[in-house]
Amino acid sequence: MCGIFGYIGTDGRAINSVLYSIGLLEHRGYDSMGVAFNMGREVELYKISQEDKENFNIEDLKRLVPKRKRICNNGIGHTRWATFGGKTTKNAHPHHDFNKLFYFVHNGNVENLDDIKKELGKGSFYSETDSEVIVNLIAKYYREMNSLEKAVSKVLKKIEGANAFVVMDANKPEQLIAANKGGTIILGKENGNTIVASDLAAFEPFTIKNRHILKDNEIVEITKQGWKIYEDEKVKKAAKEINEPNSDLGEYKFFMEKEIFEQKYTMANAIRGRLITETGIPKLGGIENIARSLRKVKTFHFIGCGTAYNACLYAKFLFNRFGIAASASIASEFCYRHSVFAPDDAFIFISQSGETADTIEVINEIKIKGNICLGIVNVPGSRIWRETDAGISIRAGKEKGVASTKAFISQLASIVMLAVFLARQRNMTIDTGQRIFRELELIPDKIQEILNQANLIRKVVNKNSRFTNYYFLGRYFNYITAEEGSLKLKEISYVHAEAYPLGEMKHGPLALIDKDFCSVVIIPDDSVFKKSLVNIHEIKARNGKVLAITNKKMDVNLADDIIFVPRTIDYLSPLLTTIPLQLFSYYMALKLKRNPDKPRNLAKTVTVS
Ligand code: G6P
Repeated sequence: MCGIFGYIGTDGRAINSVLYSIGLLEHRGYDSMGVAFNMGREVELYKISQEDKENFNIEDLKRLVPKRKRICNNGIGHTRWATFGGKTTKNAHPHHDFNKLFYFVHNGNVENLDDIKKELGKGSFYSETDSEVIVNLIAKYYREMNSLEKAVSKVLKKIEGANAFVVMDANKPEQLIAANKGGTIILGKENGNTIVASDLAAFEPFTIKNRHILKDNEIVEITKQGWKIYEDEKVKKAAKEINEPNSDLGEYKFFMEKEIFEQKYTMANAIRGRLITETGIPKLGGIENIARSLRKVKTFHFIGCGTAYNACLYAKFLFNRFGIAASASIASEFCYRHSVFAPDDAFIFISQSGETADTIEVINEIKIKGNICLGIVNVPGSRIWRETDAGISIRAGKEKGVASTKAFISQLASIVMLAVFLARQRNMTIDTGQRIFRELELIPDKIQEILNQANLIRKVVNKNSRFTNYYFLGRYFNYITAEEGSLKLKEISYVHAEAYPLGEMKHGPLALIDKDFCSVVIIPDDSVFKKSLVNIHEIKARNGKVLAITNKKMDVNLADDIIFVPRTIDYLSPLLTTIPLQLFSYYMALKLKRNPDKPRNLAKTVTVS
């Protein structure tokens, strides 16, 4: 969701630095972008949105900033994903108060906006955003208290919801103030420059050793010397180690393409050093400390959103397959349903970014109840990483494509290792554990075998791009692949797609089948293969188009197109069958002239609930 960046330097390079790092945050929100530079005597503001240019990018924003006057030591920038107010340039950040004393970049949603507007009384806002209201509240408290830290502290107490922001005081070019309540603000220091950002991705151009993640309700004063943290106006110190991101586009055109094609390596990285063959028990450093408590857990509840939710579904199926009770829930639904769980149940939160607000809401709720909370997270140092008791790092590296690809496969790999770990504590034999490890070790090369067929998949897409409706169908473990394939196609191609368990077709969905409807059927040679074949006959009998993903020779008259994947253990098959579907949606997006890295209306990291 919205990306924040701020820079206080001594090298006069704030303009270049802010523009560069905002470009690195593009994936967080690309409805609009804006920057403000404190030039000493005045603040210069530049903004662009989809209202100005549908497919704008950072280069368009750079063109707005005049080439002269490049020396500046204080700047802030923002990439916006609209919530309050449309995708217009007026709504783009940075926002300022009525008197243009304070400039403000914000990530989050203020849930008690009406109360705050009432407190501010009359005033004509130029935008429809909550952010403009908040910067005016800061200005009001500043007038009353004559201290920006105190004003921000009061605002932080006042606002409801998850919010993080940076404020620039037009009269203090040597300082920025940032605050966090439920969001993420990371600080970093490098050779006389201090950086503040909502996302580690923005740190890429800097070789930063000292980092700090702001805790909830902390306010920080940022200067070229570093930072001073206030909580309830007391200076506090803390530090947490986090890893470097890596996000070069290299030879690829889009991040999604790059991330699909690097899955051989990211999968290998997920399991590296973790599969201990002698014992058939994976070494998962992040959960070692609570291993004994996990032995006592009867039911595991998996929580996530989007692709991460599909990973939760896989976890549920796999845990059940190993005889361990498990459930899977969509985070945004969980808190509002009457969920039944026991005090000794454990909750496992799956999230690529570790910042998804819906998922964090459930963590907050579960922490009140006192159950064990684990995280399966990609971004070290992220909020879910920090807020859970223990967890597994999926080690997929920076994922920039809005549609999650490599993180999904690494999530599945982590789930397999966790399931084996827990099943070995229970009833799984050593040789089953060892057999799974042997097979997991083969998965990276098998992924590569599928990636080598990219041209064939592209041809299949080009042949089938006339269809405007798709079913993605599979049984048992590959129903999950179907869900993920359908989500990918919708997300980046805007083509209508629905996923169903294949056997469910005859209970309704079959009514839509005709020659203009395409069904992508995932049908590896497993315990449900024969039943799935019957279901394909039912589709063909109604002239439906069938595209099959399989590892078994099939009657070419039954499927119009076939994509072969290597064989593996049935419950590991989603680690392979998902790959052709990622490529399918990617090539479909290209064919339909969509930008797969910037799907309309979507954001990579959704920090509002
Ligand atoms: C957004 C992204 C999805 C992602 C979901 C959950 O909707 O567009 O690709 O699966 O959030 O994100 P998380 O970071 O929690 O995995």
